[in-house]
Amino acid sequence: MVLAQQDGTPEQQPAQEEAPDQAEVTPAEVTPAEIAPGYATDEDLRQAAQDLFDVILPAAPPTDEVHAAQRDLGAMLFFDPRMSSSGLFSCQSCHNVGMGGVDALPTSVGHGWQKGPRNAPTVYNALFNGAQFWDGRAADLAEQAMGPVQAAVEMNNTPDQVVTTLESMKEYLDAFGEAFPDEAEPVSFANFATAIAEFEETLVTPGAGFDRWLTGDDAAMSDEQKRGLALFMDSGCAGCHNGVNFGGHDYYPFGVVERPGAEVLPEGDRGRFAVTETASDDYVFRAAPLRNVAITAPYFHSGAVWSLPEAVDIMANAQLGTELAEADIGAIVAFLHSLTGEQPRVEHPVLPARTEATPLPNPFDDIMEQSR
Ligand code: HEC
Ligand code: HEC
Repeated sequence: MVLAQQDGTPEQQPAQEEAPDQAEVTPAEVTPAEIAPGYATDEDLRQAAQDLFDVILPAAPPTDEVHAAQRDLGAMLFFDPRMSSSGLFSCQSCHNVGMGGVDALPTSVGHGWQKGPRNAPTVYNALFNGAQFWDGRAADLAEQAMGPVQAAVEMNNTPDQVVTTLESMKEYLDAFGEAFPDEAEPVSFANFATAIAEFEETLVTPGAGFDRWLTGDDAAMSDEQKRGLALFMDSGCAGCHNGVNFGGHDYYPFGVVERPGAEVLPEGDRGRFAVTETASDDYVFRAAPLRNVAITAPYFHSGAVWSLPEAVDIMANAQLGTELAEADIGAIVAFLHSLTGEQPRVEHPVLPARTEATPLPNPFDDIMEQSR
């Protein structure tokens, strides 16, 4: 009969080469099976992870009534398609808050059913990014929000037309008045952007398996996920994908070691080069934030890759010059699934009815005719 130790594992002598030098070594240090290669216990792995990553906290309640009013107004603006010249596209069209904050298209489709050049990143946790867009060309959410409204391939509108539209509906006049009470002209394009940014600050996804594990719940990640985390840290992914968003801060060439083919990295989009016009920024992009990545396919700024294992494989080759074994890719993908947090439940706001003063939508009949 085998004598069982108190924890139920059969009593065994540790193998000779692992034999502790000193008799007072605690049982934990001779546990034969490690949590992950290089990490004997959850605590070891956790300490390494805590140096690199942070948890997402639930959105703080608004600090005062004014901020609460800005959030509510921002939600209306986010959902209102009349902010586009055609009356068809709202922020929600391409950043569906019931669907991971994305449109799940390779590249977005906007005004005139034009296909834009890039994949829509999620608006979830975007506030934690160091800068916005794949090339970081907008410093923050408010600056970002002014872009799509005016982009010809997105909402194709003008700031003046947005303000005229907003001023035509009494409910908007009231809502801007409450949200920006100290201002002589509360309805402005700048305040439109501020309100949307305030709303976006509520779009966070706390409570992911990884976050629960990082704060002490050993059972919140599976063994495979822990192994994937160890690989993610030790093979070099975390060198670029770190911090609270697992990316979203720094810029790197897409293809540090080997540039992917044109089907993944189209030649026309040179990334940050267009922002800085510096040769060293050619094909440089922001390290993509990886929170909720399991539900935001397709991947990369080109949106060319639908499979997460394939995206991981491409990253290992392009950024690290490593060919990962299939089982290791599987473990990293399992780990990436632990970054899916609780999705915010956003109530669709009631939007004010148009008035006679509201500019008419300008659908793109001409373009539709041409494409027939
Ligand atoms: C037609 C589709 C479309 C519409 C409409 C649209 N977006 Fe986007 N959004 C995109 C695409 C595509 C990108 C990436 C563009 C790039 O990086 O050059 C993006 C990027 C963003 C980002 C940056 C996220 C990150 O990780 O860098 C935020 C935030 C955002 N949009 C919010 C908004 C808001 C707010 C609105 C409404 C005012 C809006 N979007 C309207 C498609 C759209
Ligand atoms: C040298 C920096 C660097 C390293 C190392 C790196 N990445 Fe990336 N990662 C990036 C950049 C930059 C992008 C954005 C590429 C683009 O333009 O589409 C990215 C994009 C991604 C994406 C696509 C996310 C999305 O939403 O489209 C995934 C997934 C990813 N990386 C995972 C990994 C994994 C796993 C590893 C390790 C095997 C890794 N990365 C290593 C910089 C890096």
